[in-house]
Amino acid sequence: MDMAPALKDLHHKVSRLSGGIIRYDDEINDAYIHHFLEKSLKNGISLVAVDFETQKIVGEIHAYTLSLIAFRHMLSELTIIVDPDYQGQGIGKRLFTEFFNIVDADFSHIHRIELYVRNFNDKAIRFYEKLGFINEGPQKNKILTKDGVLETPLHMAWFNPKYRHNYWE
Ligand SMILES: CC(C)(COP(=O)(O)OP(=O)(O)OC[C@H]1O[C@@H](n2cnc3c(N)ncnc32)[C@H](O)[C@@H]1OP(=O)(O)O)[C@@H](O)C(=O)NCCC(=O)NCCS
Repeated sequence: MDMAPALKDLHHKVSRLSGGIIRYDDEINDAYIHHFLEKSLKNGISLVAVDFETQKIVGEIHAYTLSLIAFRHMLSELTIIVDPDYQGQGIGKRLFTEFFNIVDADFSHIHRIELYVRNFNDKAIRFYEKLGFINEGPQKNKILTKDGVLETPLHMAWFNPKYRHNYWE
């Protein structure tokens, strides 16, 4: 099943109705969806939440390892979205639970999982803190909006307690 069209629609809906994600609506295109799916399926984790009754994709989480060798102990670019009609029902938490289960079982080479969050996205910041992410502080003027405003998002990281380096494997 090609999930890309449904994922594109979901990202558009969240971008329009919830805000929070850093990407602009016109940047959510086929190339973007295929890029993160390919990266996460090859070198990371990609999960969707599906409404059992309607078979609709209502949530999505992904993260992947960047190509530099020095960053092979990290999952970066973590993004999570839940359909605005389904938010506040535990789906985001459930996606993370499954995500961490996979890290626990198969990703002992991963030490850090990292993401950016907009400084005004209080809901997401609290959400990540409850999940054990550490606030690593502001990244001054990292975001330049279309209106020319500079924003200072927070950088957050989660550390894998089961990390074990495997340089020689
Ligand atoms: C952030 C997001 C992924 C959370 O997913 P969700 O399914 O709504 O969250 P959950 O229902 O699993 O709730 C998780 C926790 O957040 C809390 N929460 C949920 N909705 C809340 C709200 N409106 N205000 C404050 N806290 C809220 C819940 O109480 C829960 O806490 P608990 O663990 O103590 O029970 C979702 O709201 C979303 O897609 N937001 C828009 C996109 C976004 O900002 N993504 C993050 C970009 S960095």
